[in-house]
Amino acid sequence: MTLLDDLSAFMGEAFAAAGLDAAYGRVVRADRPDLAQFQCNGALAAAKAAKQNPRALAGMVSEKLSGSEIFAEVTIAGPGFINLKLQDSWLADQTKRHGDVWLSEAPEKIVIDYGGPNVAKPLHVGHLRAAIIGESLKRIARSAGHEVIGDAHLGDWGLQMGQLISELELREPDLPYFDEAFGGPYPQDAPITLGDLEAMYPAASAACKADKARADLARAATKALQDGRPGYRALWRHFVDLSVAAMKKDYGDLGVDFDLWNGEADADALIPEIDKDLRARGLLEESDGADIIRVARDDDKKEMPPIIFRNSQGAVGYHATDIATIVDRVRNIDPARMLYVVDARQRLHFEQVFRAADAAGYFAEDKLEHLWFGTMNGKDGKPFKTREGGTLKLRDFIDMVTDKAQSRLVENGMAEGFGDVETAEIARKVGVAALKFADLSNPRTSDYIFDIERFTSFEGKTGPYLLYARARIRSVLAKAAAAGAGEPGEILIGAPEERDLALAVAAFADAHRDAYQKRLPHILCDHAFSLAQAFSKFYAACRIVDEGDDNVRASRLRLVEIVAFQLDKIFDMLGIEALERM
Ligand code: ARG
Repeated sequence: MTLLDDLSAFMGEAFAAAGLDAAYGRVVRADRPDLAQFQCNGALAAAKAAKQNPRALAGMVSEKLSGSEIFAEVTIAGPGFINLKLQDSWLADQTKRHGDVWLSEAPEKIVIDYGGPNVAKPLHVGHLRAAIIGESLKRIARSAGHEVIGDAHLGDWGLQMGQLISELELREPDLPYFDEAFGGPYPQDAPITLGDLEAMYPAASAACKADKARADLARAATKALQDGRPGYRALWRHFVDLSVAAMKKDYGDLGVDFDLWNGEADADALIPEIDKDLRARGLLEESDGADIIRVARDDDKKEMPPIIFRNSQGAVGYHATDIATIVDRVRNIDPARMLYVVDARQRLHFEQVFRAADAAGYFAEDKLEHLWFGTMNGKDGKPFKTREGGTLKLRDFIDMVTDKAQSRLVENGMAEGFGDVETAEIARKVGVAALKFADLSNPRTSDYIFDIERFTSFEGKTGPYLLYARARIRSVLAKAAAAGAGEPGEILIGAPEERDLALAVAAFADAHRDAYQKRLPHILCDHAFSLAQAFSKFYAACRIVDEGDDNVRASRLRLVEIVAFQLDKIFDMLGIEALERM
C-alpha cells in the first residue's frame, strides 16, 4: 500500500463511521502545502449526493478522527475541504517503509514493443523517444515485479528492403545473389559495408520516387523477397546483420537494451496460416483486388478505414505483420499484455490492428495498449532536424549531447584531474542523462522543444542536476562511514526541513505506482526532483555527520540512506546511469 492508499483507507473508515460511502475518503497531497500536508475533498461530493451541507458533513467526518494517532491536525477549510497534518511519529514510521520499492499486487508477463528502428534507414526523432520512453517503462514495470520482455521489433520487411536489393542489383548485377541459377552456398561476408548500405538507401529511395519503372523494380524485388527467392533472402540477411550490429552499439551507448531483436520478418511465416484463418472466420473481404478487414464500429466518432491485409499485387504490409506478430507472441511468449511505444502518428494503425486482433480472437483489445508520445521539436516548433534539414542519426545525437556535456563540465570546474578516457565516459553519461531526463520529465503525450542549453544545465530540473545531487548524497554517506558516524537508526522528526524531507520520501510508492499504472515516467522524474530539492534544504539546515546527539545523527543518516536508495532506484527506472564522481 502506498501512503495515499493508507491515508485514504483511514479517511474512508471515518466516512463510513459517519454513515457515508468509504470511497469518498480519497486523500490527496494538499494543493497548498503551506496550509496542510494532505487533503480530502470527498465531503463535497458526498454532500451533493446526499443533498446535505458539505461543511457540516466534513465536520461530522472529522469528529470521527479525533484522538487519531495518525493525524495531528484535522481542519475544515472553504466549502468543506478536510485539511490534514500527520503526526510526526506516524510519518517517521511510514518513511522507513520507503527504503524499498513498491510492488504490484498482480504481477504479469508483459511484452513491450519499443524502438522500432528500420533496417538501413536512419532513425528519426520518433525512434529516439520510443527507445528512451520504452526502456524506462520496461524498467518501471520490472521494478514493480512484472516479468517484462522488450522487443526491438525491427522494420526489416518493408519496401525499403526491395529498394535496396534492386539498387544493388543495378549497381553490381554480377553478384551471385542475383543469379537465379546459382546453387549456393552464398558468401559468408556481406558484399558491401554498412557505410555502403547507409549511402545506398537515400539514393535508392530518391530514384524510386523519381522514376515509376524504378519503383516497380523495387516493388517486384520486395515481392520476390517475401516469396522466398534464395539470393534475395541471403542478401537481406546481410543487410539486417550489418544494420543490427550498428544499432546495438548506438542503443548500447544510449543505455537501451532489448531482450529480443525480432522483426516484422519473423512473423512472416505465419501469414499464410493467418490468412486462412481470417478467411474461415469471414473477416477477410475482397475489395478492388485487395484483401481487407473491416474494423469500423457503429459508435465510431471518427472515420475508421478498413485494414488492407494484402494489396492488389499480393504483398502484405505493416498491418498484416503486426497482426501476425501478435499471434507469434502469443505462441512463443504467451504474455498477459502487450505494450507498444510508438509515436502518435501511428494511433490509427494500432487501433485498427488491435480491433482486428480482437475480432479474430487472437488477443483481447483491452490488453493491447498503444502508448503513443508527442514529438521532439526544434526551436522552430517543427520535428527536430539537423541544420542541413535532414534527420539526425542516433549516433549524432549522442555525440552532440556528449560534446555539450563536456563543455558544461569544464565551465563548472567538474571532472577535473581524470584521465582522458574517464573524462570522455563521464561526458557521455552526463550528456545521455541530460537527453533522457529531458525527454522523460516531459509528459509522454506532449510535444517538447529540444533545448540543449537548458537540458545540460546543472541547475533546474535537469538530468545533470540530479546526477550531481545524487553524487553529493552518496558522498555524505561515504563521509559518514569514513568519520565513524555510526549506524543509521530510528527516524525522529524534529526540524521542519526534516519533516519536509520525510514527506517527500514517503511519496515514493505513490510516484512509482502512478508512473506504472498511468504509463507516465515523468511522475518519477517529478518525485526525484522534489526529493533532491527537499534534501538540499535539509542538508543546508541540519547537521548530519557532525551532529552531536547520537539518536538524531542516526536518524538523519537513515533519512539520507533512504533518499540515496530512492534516487538510485529512480535512475535505474529511468534508464540513466549514475556517476560516483564528477
Ligand atoms: N518500424 C516502425 C516505424 O519506423 C515502428 C514499429 C513499431 N512497432 C510495431 N509493432 N509496429 O515506424
